[in-house]
Formats: sequence, structure tokens, C-alpha cells
Amino acid sequence: MSEHHEKMTKTTPMQVVVATVGGLVAPLIAIFLIIQLVLGIQASHVNQDTDDVQTEAVAERIKPVGDVHIVDASAPKVEKSGEEVFSAVCTACHTSGALDAPKQGNKGDWEKRIGQGYDTLVKHAIEGIRAMPPRGGGADLSDAELARAVAYMANSGGAKFTAP
Ligand code: HEC
Repeated sequence: MSEHHEKMTKTTPMQVVVATVGGLVAPLIAIFLIIQLVLGIQASHVNQDTDDVQTEAVAERIKPVGDVHIVDASAPKVEKSGEEVFSAVCTACHTSGALDAPKQGNKGDWEKRIGQGYDTLVKHAIEGIRAMPPRGGGADLSDAELARAVAYMANSGGAKFTAP
């Protein structure tokens, strides 16, 4: 029994060398091969274009939720002033004169329109006229808010309308 035991545990210097070299080299080869595999997969799947698209997609997915507008439907609606409505909605066209919209503060643009009278202008603002969309596209604006915005704009172009 003890003889057998000795045989089992007795190692030659050669065995030590083989075991040591094998024990060190084998994991290194394995690691090297794994790295090669990973790099190979990356190289075949990723090019600059998809990388950019992916970066954008990720940015879109992880963007802060602060971007989302949460509107409390039960909150009392606060009526906006003419200037507030203008800055929120009408300015998109009426500041630059886009689509030939009469420009804010431009007397020449507003002169003829003012001649139609306040009520007609308000009606056109509510119902829309030609390239002017109904309510200027601000579907949630009340008639009074629109009337105020019309007065605000027309007055900037020389009218003397009194807003409701
Ligand atoms: C998408 C662009 C756009 C937006 C936004 C917009 N308008 Fe206009 N608006 C126009 C255009 C274009 C005209 C000229 C229409 C025409 O006479 O052919 C116009 C004309 C008008 C007129 C004159 C109508 C008339 O009878 O002469 C009023 C008043 C007016 N807009 C009010 C508003 C108000 C108030 C808002 C914001 C709530 C608003 N608009 C937002 C494009 C816009």
C-alpha cells in the first residue's frame, strides 16, 4: 500500500516541467483564442455606419424621461394671454411670414386685414383661411385665447382692438 502510494506521488523533474508549462500555456492559448473570437465577431458585425445608428438608437432609448410632457387632465385650464398664445403657436408662421402669413409688427401686412374688422379676423383665426390652419394648429386653444392672440398681432400692426 505504502509502496503504491509512493509511486503515485513521486514525480520526475520532467513531469514537473510538463505540468508547469502545460498549466501556464493552456489557459493562455484559451484566452488568446477567446479574444480572437470576440474580435472576429465584432469585426464582422460592426462597421462605422451601424455603430452611429446604434449610438443614436441607444441615446433615444436612454434619454431622460423629463422630455415627456405629462399633462394632468384634471388640472384647471389656465387661459393664456394673447402674447402667450402668440409665442406658443402663432409665432411659427407670423414672425417669419412663412406661407405668406402677415408678419407680427408689420403695418403693411396687417393694414388690409385689419380693415375686415376684429370679428372677421377672429373668425378666420378660429376657422382657418387658405394656408392659415384652423386655430393656427393649436387645437386646444379656446376662442377667447385666439381672439386675444389676434388682437395682440393686429395691434402690433397698427390696429386698436380690445381683447376679451
Ligand atoms: C402654419 C402657419 C400659421 C400658423 C401657426 C398661424 N398662422 Fe395665422 N396665418 C397664416 C397664413 C399663411 C395666413 C395668411 C392666409 C391668407 O390670407 O391667405 C394667416 C393669416 C392670419 C390672420 C389674418 C386672417 C385674415 O382674414 O386676413 C389671422 C388673424 C391669423 N392668421 C391669426 C393667427 C393666430 C391667432 C395664430 C395662432 C393661434 C396663427 N394665425 C397661427 C399661417 C399661420
